[in-house]
Amino acid sequence: MTMKNVLSWILVLFLVVSLLNNCLSNKVQKEVNQRNAFMNTLRKLYSSGDSSKWPKPILDPESASSFVEIGHLPNVQFPDDNPYSEEKELLGKTLFFDPRLSKSNQIACASCHDPELGWSDNRTFSFGHDRQLGIRNAMSILNVAHAKSLFWDGRAESLEQQSQMPIQDEREMSEHIDIAAGKISKIKGYEILFEKAFGDKTATKDRISKAIATFERMIKSRSSKFDQFIDGKSEVYTNDELMGLHLFRTKAQCMNCHNSGYFSNSGFENVGTSLLGEKGEDLGRYLVTKKPEDAGKFRVPGLREISRTFPYFHNGSMKTLTEVIDFYSKGNPEYSQKRSTVHEGITLKSEKSGMVRMLELSDEEIAQLEAFLKTLTSKTENVSMPELPR
Ligand code: HEC
Ligand code: HEC
Repeated sequence: MTMKNVLSWILVLFLVVSLLNNCLSNKVQKEVNQRNAFMNTLRKLYSSGDSSKWPKPILDPESASSFVEIGHLPNVQFPDDNPYSEEKELLGKTLFFDPRLSKSNQIACASCHDPELGWSDNRTFSFGHDRQLGIRNAMSILNVAHAKSLFWDGRAESLEQQSQMPIQDEREMSEHIDIAAGKISKIKGYEILFEKAFGDKTATKDRISKAIATFERMIKSRSSKFDQFIDGKSEVYTNDELMGLHLFRTKAQCMNCHNSGYFSNSGFENVGTSLLGEKGEDLGRYLVTKKPEDAGKFRVPGLREISRTFPYFHNGSMKTLTEVIDFYSKGNPEYSQKRSTVHEGITLKSEKSGMVRMLELSDEEIAQLEAFLKTLTSKTENVSMPELPR
């Protein structure tokens, strides 16, 4: 071969390679363009300020009756027999932080519902009276005004009713409610607070409940990144957060249960966490209704402020959101094994909801869902401690 020949072969080879390369990058470029167009469309729709323009959610038929689209939190409603007043809120706040409602005079509601810890305690189980360990994870009281029933099993119907239960609970504050009310009524400094809130200085257990409930109804999220995004601030979301929102409503099917502005359908569902027949077993909703089909069901918790209220689930068994999403992605396969237990002579089985199934989310999709969930957290408010009356 002559030198000239070699050179022309090299030239041909070079041309072929660069042509191929060009084709390939055109294809990649086209894909990138398509993806960008898809994301731009999603961004436009979701931040349009009109949720009827959003892509259709993927729902199971059984969730249709309780489905409400996600969005802003509605305004808080106060019951007719316990209307709001600033004075009542202040009295409630003072009582919420007052350990004298407990037998030991050491434990306040705020010990387990600490404003700096997302109004929870970030522990798996809480310590109560005599440092006894509780049996369930402390729930945050943020946005609790929107819960239709209270506790993981829904055993309290109103905040007024609920507020006496931890005072009496032997593992929590362990004080008889009448004794607690008696102690409060002997504290001179409380008289003026009761008078301003209720018209006279008498401290009763009923008034204590009403005041605490009024304070709790005012503990609510501020506007989150999610709220700003859906209101039209289209630039506040990253692509991952946007994709996470879309996955939450579609492929990951979280909206079957976590829907409405509170991110809960307020129902009771079995996601396969009850550990029936094992150490740590918790019958959940069954303990309240005694209906066998409720064994292992828990209240669907709201997801606002979720990044602040770890660990997760009724037993605090999951430390991170990644773990929780991974659990859903796998459809909780361990649960296909038979689970049953005998409780008070009755054999109970726990049946996982059909809405918890293998989702096959990629690692990227899991990260995107997590990024979205974090946008439901709003800026922490500085809560000043009330002065405890003497
Ligand atoms: C020792 C820790 C502890 C103390 C003290 C405590 N709580 Fe709780 N709180 C919990 C735990 C644990 C749960 C969940 C229990 C369950 O579901 O069975 C809970 C649940 C709640 C809920 C239900 C939230 C929801 O979304 O359903 C409210 C409201 C609440 N507590 C308010 C209070 C008030 C008011 C006080 C004071 C009178 C108080 N707590 C004292 C640990 C505590
Ligand atoms: C079948 C209804 C259902 C579906 C579908 C569902 N959840 Fe849940 N979720 C629940 C219930 C019930 C609990 C409480 C379980 C427990 O405490 O044992 C829960 C708990 C959680 C928690 C922990 C909350 C806390 O305060 O501890 C997170 C986070 C969560 N879900 C996120 C998701 C995400 C993300 C998806 C979609 C991938 C999803 N859920 C799908 C019903 C559901």
